[in-house]
Amino acid sequence: MSISVRDLENTVAELIAPGKGILAADESVGTIEKRFKAVNVVSTQESRRDYRELLFSTPGLSDFVSGVILFDETLKQKNTVGVPLPDLLKTQGMIAGIKVDMGTVALPGFAGEKITEGLDGLSKRLTEYKQLGARFAKWRAVLTIDAGMPSAQGIAANAYVLARYAALCQEAGLVPIVEPEVLMDGDHTIETCASVTERVLHTVFHALHAQRVALELMILKPNMVVPGSMCKEQASPPQVAQATLTCLRRTVPAAVPGINFLSGGQTDAAATANLNAMNSQGKNPWNVSFSYGRALQAAAIQAWGGEAAHKEVAQQALYQRARLNSAAVLGTYSADMEK
Ligand code: 13P
Repeated sequence: MSISVRDLENTVAELIAPGKGILAADESVGTIEKRFKAVNVVSTQESRRDYRELLFSTPGLSDFVSGVILFDETLKQKNTVGVPLPDLLKTQGMIAGIKVDMGTVALPGFAGEKITEGLDGLSKRLTEYKQLGARFAKWRAVLTIDAGMPSAQGIAANAYVLARYAALCQEAGLVPIVEPEVLMDGDHTIETCASVTERVLHTVFHALHAQRVALELMILKPNMVVPGSMCKEQASPPQVAQATLTCLRRTVPAAVPGINFLSGGQTDAAATANLNAMNSQGKNPWNVSFSYGRALQAAAIQAWGGEAAHKEVAQQALYQRARLNSAAVLGTYSADMEK
């Protein structure tokens, strides 16, 4: 067995440690600007660094968070006393990961559909990221539900690049997080989300197989199966759990060690309650956990509001949210823990 396979196995084992999940803090410069604007903070290199440093230095966060996904800029930043942020994470007991896709562009010929860019030169970037301390990576594909969408071609194109990315990661010694996100936007029903997500995951795993990706050495980051955010009929946690697990059992081989969901615009409490419902109904073939961005950070960013003096309350908010999601991974969360 080569060293790098053992490295990948160790990284996977650490990422899926019992009761732990992943913090997605890999917002691009454009996305973090949007999040900052909502709490009246001007986005600069320094404010972005301060905010990320606050998150990563939260005392005790590693009890619930095994890894953190960073954006390129953050991986290369140092904290106020000159410690590189990936080193800070390591000292805090968490693994640094890196978003390696370059965002989405329109898919030509398929109005409204998107394809993710970033394969060109990727293997060189992966080598550099590994040297900077990253041990896993993330690539997000975006699928929209609308009339005639996503098309079979849109799904296949995104599945192909996801699989190429995953193969390159494993070759470079980084664990790939494979993220095909079916968006919640729209008024579609939970049944529509289920059938689209099933088609997408089926195609993604076919592509992963074709590109000879070792399923044991990756993590899947899917959407939960939920109704569109504008759908009149919303679903309870047991309904979401039932629909999501049915879809995943049909499409995700048991060889995949971990499924870490994105939150996708669900409220903090809904993302936690839905995850808990999936872990309190019996044993799953894979570890079922979180890789939330907004649903972990929303309360913390609000509490911070750009004020250094609010650092501790913001860290407490992140700690509390991570603690509740950790309980949801163990299936021991209940709504009254929100108080
Ligand atoms: P959300 O949990 O906010 O959807 O973000 C997760 C993520 O990493 C999206 O790529």
